[in-house]
Amino acid sequence: MVRILSKKSFALSAMVAASLMASGVMASDETEPRNEQYKDKFSKQYNSWHETSESVEIIDALEQDPNLVVLWAGYGFAKDYNKARGHMYAVTDLRNTLRSGAPKQDSDGPMPMACWSCKSPDVPRMIEEQGEDGYFSGKWYKGGAEIVNTIGCSDCHEKGKSKLRISRPFAERGMETLGTPFDKASRKDKQSMVCGQCHVEYYFEKTADKKGFVKFPWDKGTTVEDMEAYYDGIEFSDWTHKLSKTPMLKAQHPGYETWQLGMHGKNNVSCTDCHMPKVKNAEGRKFTDHKVGNPFDRFEDTCGSCHEQSKEFMVNLDNERKAKVKEIQLRAENQLVKAHFEAAAAWEAGATEAEMKPILTDIRHGQWRWDYAIASHGVASHAPDEALRVLGTAVDKAADARVKLAQLLAKKGVKQPIAYPDISTKAKAQAAMGMDMKKMNADKAEFKKTELPKWDAEAKKREATY
Ligand code: HEC
Ligand code: HEC
Ligand code: HEC
Ligand code: HEC
Repeated sequence: MVRILSKKSFALSAMVAASLMASGVMASDETEPRNEQYKDKFSKQYNSWHETSESVEIIDALEQDPNLVVLWAGYGFAKDYNKARGHMYAVTDLRNTLRSGAPKQDSDGPMPMACWSCKSPDVPRMIEEQGEDGYFSGKWYKGGAEIVNTIGCSDCHEKGKSKLRISRPFAERGMETLGTPFDKASRKDKQSMVCGQCHVEYYFEKTADKKGFVKFPWDKGTTVEDMEAYYDGIEFSDWTHKLSKTPMLKAQHPGYETWQLGMHGKNNVSCTDCHMPKVKNAEGRKFTDHKVGNPFDRFEDTCGSCHEQSKEFMVNLDNERKAKVKEIQLRAENQLVKAHFEAAAAWEAGATEAEMKPILTDIRHGQWRWDYAIASHGVASHAPDEALRVLGTAVDKAADARVKLAQLLAKKGVKQPIAYPDISTKAKAQAAMGMDMKKMNADKAEFKKTELPKWDAEAKKREATY
């Protein structure tokens, strides 16, 4: 193996890597992607990390809330969307979701390579070997036999060490935008920044020199308004809505951003303080509990290390906040769903682009705000006041759209209220959106049977040469 990569200068290393890659002599010397390699050396950390596999339950978010199918109509999330579970399942869940489709070869869609970016230490390994250009080029299938180890040690640590690192150059660039590069950050900041590699808002760039790279849209700041202005400024959209034809934004999971706006973020209580506390093992030796999960599962080590209230009191408070956020979330969804159907009716009645433009802008902004709030998983616990504020503006934007739609529909002679289809279950909503779920599920089953074993066999062969 060749030891050339400088630890810090990603830009340079990417260039060097790309040219070495071309000559075929490069393998990463900075990343050990195989988590099992640390089983003995760091057994306490390894074993607690492995326990994230106990968070096994799959919760179908579309089944729970069929509004989502309409809100995301025309986009992958309407096909299949489960709530997050343990880090141990990141690769498995991406392979299995209908969103990643049923590709059979490198050139098949629907997803790009970038979709692997928050799932595995094989991502920094590939970037070190091939440069970002090499890693990000091509479709998702291309990474199937490469990205096989789930989120683990090398995502957050330097090779073989306990020292924290940012392993992805695009995350390092994002943090720099906010003013603090990782190596200048305090220990506390680093504890949250490692999570902020993945639990953030991002999109796939479409510039000439950075095709398909992951970028955090933070150039103007990290509030919902800042990122909205950024996306509007570059006229970015993730997809065109199937009903309303709105150029939509899909929020990813801006958890790092919303945590900063909450009481704990403002006091620099880190992600680690609540999700990876310092604990004692049977021999009384302190270590960091790597079972990232629900902080209430070990209350004494998390909340209880700073607060005197009882667990029961805190859990009740948290549940109240979740219920309040849920209430406004559903009000926003109800308004947005109707706006999409009414916009479709307006198009049907012959509305012009010019008539629709201000309406579609309201829908775009309203849904972006709703999504920013709820896709920030844990937001009701991290920053409930910000969640409610943002959802309030989502309701407002959607209401603006619907006032304009009511006037436009009246002008076009459409009788109101229009007829809204039955979307009371996931299946009914998907049928109303004209989605052929039977075919999608059959193709996926075939993909799992034929392609996944190939990927695993190829990966095993490659790793045997390490
Ligand atoms: C999501 C990020 C993340 C992952 C994945 C991760 N760690 Fe850590 N690790 C941390 C953080 C945060 C700390 C605490 C750093 C501090 O105290 O400032 C830590 C601390 C450590 C330490 C120092 C001793 C201690 O317990 O505090 C060791 C050793 C360690 N991790 C090993 C591992 C091993 C082995 C794996 C893989 C099985 C792993 N880590 C996976 C984030 C991570
Ligand atoms: C390499 C990207 C990555 C890093 C780094 C990362 N996460 Fe995650 N996290 C994910 C993904 C992806 C999922 C969803 C996995 C699934 O559902 O298959 C997830 C899930 C979670 C969950 C839900 C777990 C459950 O059992 O429901 C929590 C909580 C979480 N992460 C917190 C954190 C914290 C805190 C950190 C930093 C210490 C962190 N994550 C670092 C990508 C990452
Ligand atoms: C003050 C403590 C605290 C801090 C700090 C904190 N969290 Fe959380 N987080 C929680 C609680 C409480 C929940 C709700 C747990 C539950 O009900 O499953 C939660 C939920 C989550 C979830 C959703 C889990 C799920 O399955 O829905 C993710 C993801 C998450 N946190 C990531 C982070 C990240 C990333 C950071 C730092 C940027 C962070 N948290 C900081 C307390 C905290
Ligand atoms: C590392 C210390 C620390 C940990 C761990 C911690 N907190 Fe806090 N918490 C604070 C600080 C600091 C504040 C700011 C106000 C203050 O000083 O009381 C705060 C404020 C609060 C408040 C009042 C502000 C608000 O949100 O309305 C609540 C409620 C709260 N924490 C709940 C929790 C819960 C629940 C957990 C565990 C999931 C937790 N905290 C974990 C330090 C911590």
